[in-house]
Amino acid sequence: MAYAAFRSIGAYIPEKILTNDDLAYMVDTSDEWITKRTGIKERRIAAKEERTSDMGVNAAQVSIERSGLDKADIDMIICATISPDYFNMPSTATIIATKLGLGQITAFDISAACTGFVYIVGIAKAFIESGMKKNILIVGSEKLSAITDYTDRGTCILFGDGAGAAIISATDKKEEAIIDVNTGSDGNYADLLMTPNGGSGSAHDSLESDKVCMQMKGNETFKVAVRTLTNDVKEILEKNNMHSDDIVHFVPHQANYRIIKAVGDALKMREDQVVLTVGKYGNTSGASIPMAINDIYESGKLKKGDMLLLDAFGGGLTWGSALLPFMGE
Ligand code: ACO
Repeated sequence: MAYAAFRSIGAYIPEKILTNDDLAYMVDTSDEWITKRTGIKERRIAAKEERTSDMGVNAAQVSIERSGLDKADIDMIICATISPDYFNMPSTATIIATKLGLGQITAFDISAACTGFVYIVGIAKAFIESGMKKNILIVGSEKLSAITDYTDRGTCILFGDGAGAAIISATDKKEEAIIDVNTGSDGNYADLLMTPNGGSGSAHDSLESDKVCMQMKGNETFKVAVRTLTNDVKEILEKNNMHSDDIVHFVPHQANYRIIKAVGDALKMREDQVVLTVGKYGNTSGASIPMAINDIYESGKLKKGDMLLLDAFGGGLTWGSALLPFMGE
């Protein structure tokens, strides 16, 4: 049986910085309020002409280079995004594949909001273990600034742009394998976080009648998030006879420092185990976890063989966690 190994990581961080003080000129808020309630100090914003696929391509190039693979060896690409280049079609994954010159490989997007990256780790694992594919490029890329309402202070302070990518490859060594991926969803909470316009569920006659922007019931989402993230991790650790101490890096979705702190405390994680990038990147949805993994990789903290625990929740609601050793050089 083939196992699936998490072989490399890469990211792309847009140049432009949007600070809390910048936002205070746009809506009725302050650096103090945003910092205290979210831990976010600044976030990155993609250039006007920069698309989700462009950021995905940049992140993917880094992850491919670090994997040591030839582009020709990649046989599938999956992109997790809620801010695709085009709604519905073509998928951002097909555009990334073509821009990278990957040939006519299997390519598709998935929509699981902030849990998207954990979902695609699971999908890649399943494709490799079944023997259908050997080297899969997974990309989380978001231009959330394109779907953010910058007159709504409840959401615009949270979100940022960026991309992360990884290569998942077949291996015959069990000790290199992604151990487990645990995902779930509950559509009863669909209205907590949604883009209500622009789809067939839209209240308007035309699919194009309104700008497609995110809306969120922040406070309710907060409570469900803490509960879901904590239960999710307890479940995956128990199922695999592991404990918080076995984890070198706990990489939660970077939505809000207070959520991360509450979950970390509930799981008895030490501060040095918890990866935090929310202060400098804000919430980048499907890109948040790979950007955070890349951050500890580039700062030299992430070593080959380190056990990672990924944990995410997002619109849907969706949630998921993954246990895996990092097998990059
Ligand atoms: N600046 C100043 N005041 C504000 C701001 C702001 N930016 N936003 C809201 N307020 C005010 C509200 O109007 C309210 O005022 P009131 O008491 O006079 O009515 C007060 O602050 C408290 O509002 P709450 O919404 O209760 O504030 P809360 O402490 O919950 O913080 C926040 C809001 C930061 C949005 C928080 O709820 C949160 O982080 N929620 C989770 C977000 C999240 O993780 N989303 C999921 C992932 S995203 C995805 O899937 C794409």
